[in-house]
Amino acid sequence: MTATTTRAIGAPVDRLEGAEKVRGTALYAAEHPVDRPLHAHLLQAEIPLGRITGIDTSEAMAEPGVAGVLTHLNAPHLVPEQDAELTILQTPEVAFRDQIIGAVLAESPEAARRAAHLVHVDYEQREHDVDLHPARPDLVRPELVNGGFQTDTSEGDVDAALTSAAVTLDEVYTTPQEHNNPLEPHATIAVWTDGDLTLYDSTQGVHWVRDSIATIFGLDRERIHVVCPHTGGGFGCKGLPHAHVVLAAMAARQVAPRPVKLVLTRQQMFTVVGYRTGTLQRVRLGADPSGHLTAISHDAVSQTSRIKEFVEQTAVPTRTMYAAPNRRTTHRVAELDVPVPSWMRAPGECPGMFGLEVAMDEMAIACGLDPVEFRIRNEPDTDPDTGRPFSSRNLVACLREGAERFGWAQRDPRPRSTHDGRWLVGTGVAASTYPVLTMPGTHATIQARPDGRYRVLLGAADIGTGAWTALTQIAADALDVDISRVQLSIGDTDLPYASGAGGSTGITCWGSAIVDAARRLRDQLPEGEAVPDEGVEVTGALPDNPYAGQLAMHSFGAQFVEVRVHADTGEVRVPRMVGVFAAGRIVNPKTARSQLLGGMTMGLSMALHEHSVVDPRYGHVVNHDFAEYHIATNADVGEIEVRFVEEHDPYVNPMGTKGIGELGIVGTAAAIANAAHHATGVRVRDLPLTLDRFL
Ligand code: MOS
Repeated sequence: MTATTTRAIGAPVDRLEGAEKVRGTALYAAEHPVDRPLHAHLLQAEIPLGRITGIDTSEAMAEPGVAGVLTHLNAPHLVPEQDAELTILQTPEVAFRDQIIGAVLAESPEAARRAAHLVHVDYEQREHDVDLHPARPDLVRPELVNGGFQTDTSEGDVDAALTSAAVTLDEVYTTPQEHNNPLEPHATIAVWTDGDLTLYDSTQGVHWVRDSIATIFGLDRERIHVVCPHTGGGFGCKGLPHAHVVLAAMAARQVAPRPVKLVLTRQQMFTVVGYRTGTLQRVRLGADPSGHLTAISHDAVSQTSRIKEFVEQTAVPTRTMYAAPNRRTTHRVAELDVPVPSWMRAPGECPGMFGLEVAMDEMAIACGLDPVEFRIRNEPDTDPDTGRPFSSRNLVACLREGAERFGWAQRDPRPRSTHDGRWLVGTGVAASTYPVLTMPGTHATIQARPDGRYRVLLGAADIGTGAWTALTQIAADALDVDISRVQLSIGDTDLPYASGAGGSTGITCWGSAIVDAARRLRDQLPEGEAVPDEGVEVTGALPDNPYAGQLAMHSFGAQFVEVRVHADTGEVRVPRMVGVFAAGRIVNPKTARSQLLGGMTMGLSMALHEHSVVDPRYGHVVNHDFAEYHIATNADVGEIEVRFVEEHDPYVNPMGTKGIGELGIVGTAAAIANAAHHATGVRVRDLPLTLDRFL
């Protein structure tokens, strides 16, 4: 443990890169100046399953400005039997609709896009299946689910407990397929110089991109340089590189010895950069007459691509949330002819807590208890999953403070009891949670200069979260200097290895490495000793957490919402949301509030709008743009209040932080569905809560 001061941590520091972003001088991936780039436009499969039997590029090649067409016929060879999502253009096989089958390279993006429509591809089609439905006979039991969690867990005798329970619930909840829509679409510029590759890529982790691309191309990692100082949002879809990055690198090598720039269109964002799988969740609960849970069972089904397994860890949060002597969770996955699902803000926790937290609301009502009280009554003493004590757990404090702030005590529990003209008014609550995770490998270098300034170097990422600012605050405290004396450099593989911005691990992994480096600097440079003219440089690393195997580490929260449903039109409005979170120490209350506010807004969007509709005949997402895939806008958002419960947790990491990127979206949709039930008496178990559900 390091003695950090509290001078910078805890201060609402403005984003250090904010002015640069507002002025437009902060460079995003596609904006990096390169010499005479060619512009690429993707060619994508027009069938859901089969093989390419012929490609006619003559018409495209005749277009002015077209430099070449890359397909499986002329693509460079990649290392075989690696990640099947990335190993593109090696065969004529098509594994899913819109899979990348090539690219057109031209002098302008417009010319490339036009010519892409003039490439004629013939296919031999096979029968496909893209439909996730509950009665599939071929559900696969995965080895592990996303995050390396166990596929199934079981303790006690759930079936017997359910049979003998005084109160039971057995319902199915579903969440639809959803797509990440960061403001900045994916973009990559690839430049080869003497066999070395530079990638300007919009990513959540430059070193993760380098590792993946090195493996696929069979290159030494040192020959790949990935640059990404700023990322315009990610939410998981930029966590690991997708096939378009490979394509840009291939095109730049094969078609012309020129830089190649590839910017995905908004529609292409619905095809090849991952998505949140739909989920089918059966939740069974049993309780005794006093409202204590005796059984908790959560069976989750999701989909994956046949070419690569990704399994949403939907039922994992249920293992930790509430006490009951008999508990079971299972995950099964349908292998379909679909694109590869991936991370989307709080994968697992986000859809899974919709099922569990709506079920908890239904169960509270069945037990005749207030839903806040019902949750408090089933609060566990230790982690039900591992039996370990919690490093800190303040769900009850969040529920109590949220109820207080929201005015929950005035609530009439009867559904459909409150009207405002033709609006039916209801309130609802749900819990949030997210684990404190770590990713291996982060190192940080600190250079001390004789003028009293410090450079802090690591390949971390700021995906719009404020990490740049928060890390500078952590470094300033660790060095015991004002933040004005700290200059942070991130977003470049020339900097020390850092894990990516994923799993809400950034501050834990990067901050811990910085604190470790600062400690080493102090060891090397005892107090009072001047920095020599040539400066001092030390490198630290993310240390092992000695408590990792002993304590359960999670953040928690409680969300309270008011929902209004129009009695005649079914329109759903959410005028007020209050989120109270216990997430350890808050490094920067300003950027942290924005993170939680953003998470809750994305949860509101999930509750009311988001649904990627797949046409089972053709296998594509039909509503693949912002006209038809609705995302919450300012007009949807009412008053949102974000509060933090003070929490001191010395076990999670040297800063006492727990991670806040994903917590805010967890539970929001359930709170809204629960409030909509309170308003109308209609229980919606399938997202999103479109107006037709209430008519
Ligand atoms: Mo987050 S879904 O781990 O980028």
